[in-house]
Amino acid sequence: MNILIVGNWKMHLAPAEAVKLVKKLQERIPPNRDVGVVLCPPFIDLVPVQEVLERGHFKLGAQNCHVMDEGASTGEISASMLRGIADYVIIGHSERRHEFYEDDKLIAKKMAAAVRNGLKPILCVGETLDERHDGLSTKVVTAQVTAGLMMLTAEEVETVVIAYEPVWAIGSGASATPDQIKPMIAVIKATVHELYLGDEPVVPILYGAGVEPEFVSAILSVPYVSGLLVGGASLHYEKFAQIVIGAQDMQRASKLT
Ligand code: PGA
Repeated sequence: MNILIVGNWKMHLAPAEAVKLVKKLQERIPPNRDVGVVLCPPFIDLVPVQEVLERGHFKLGAQNCHVMDEGASTGEISASMLRGIADYVIIGHSERRHEFYEDDKLIAKKMAAAVRNGLKPILCVGETLDERHDGLSTKVVTAQVTAGLMMLTAEEVETVVIAYEPVWAIGSGASATPDQIKPMIAVIKATVHELYLGDEPVVPILYGAGVEPEFVSAILSVPYVSGLLVGGASLHYEKFAQIVIGAQDMQRASKLT
């Protein structure tokens, strides 16, 4: 499985700044790599960024979508509107779960909307610090994965990407340690395969939260981590380029062994 690096720009960069960042990234990161790169700018940046994307460089993702394909929903964007612009969509990010009270039921519907419209959903799961302290990490993450996939068929689940993002490490500049990440990735993998897929690890599982260039090789060495979801560092072209190039080195090394 090729490594996937996703940049989540969150609520940063107006269109002109977004275009500038993409142009810099295209100069710094070689095209046609083995490592897939998905940029997830704010909605208003998607089209301007798409217009300057060079072939073989990056794919685009949205940061959210509505559950319906169209309708009277002021201020919202549907998955059907994203067709032809984005290939991926982040669903259930902890900032949406906490700031916008998105619950598992709504997230399940958004997952279905994404898949129905041919987008690959990146389902974010992860425990808060309190949940971790209470020994609930496994329970919380298992429940989030189970609920997030609830409305999908086994075949549809194969289009999904899951990102483990411990809420306590998001925005901290310090990622969780490999020892903390390893059991949680194993839980996600076991949950998905128990529910849908038998033994084959076909659903990519990313790690996200506090990812910086210096952590890339340690995180990507954790069993079954097949990529990274990068927030803050994805806004700095040099850092993000280092992350992608670091991943490329890991990918090459894995092919040699
Ligand atoms: P961070 O954000 O890399 O800034 O911690 C990750 C995320 O929220 O997706």
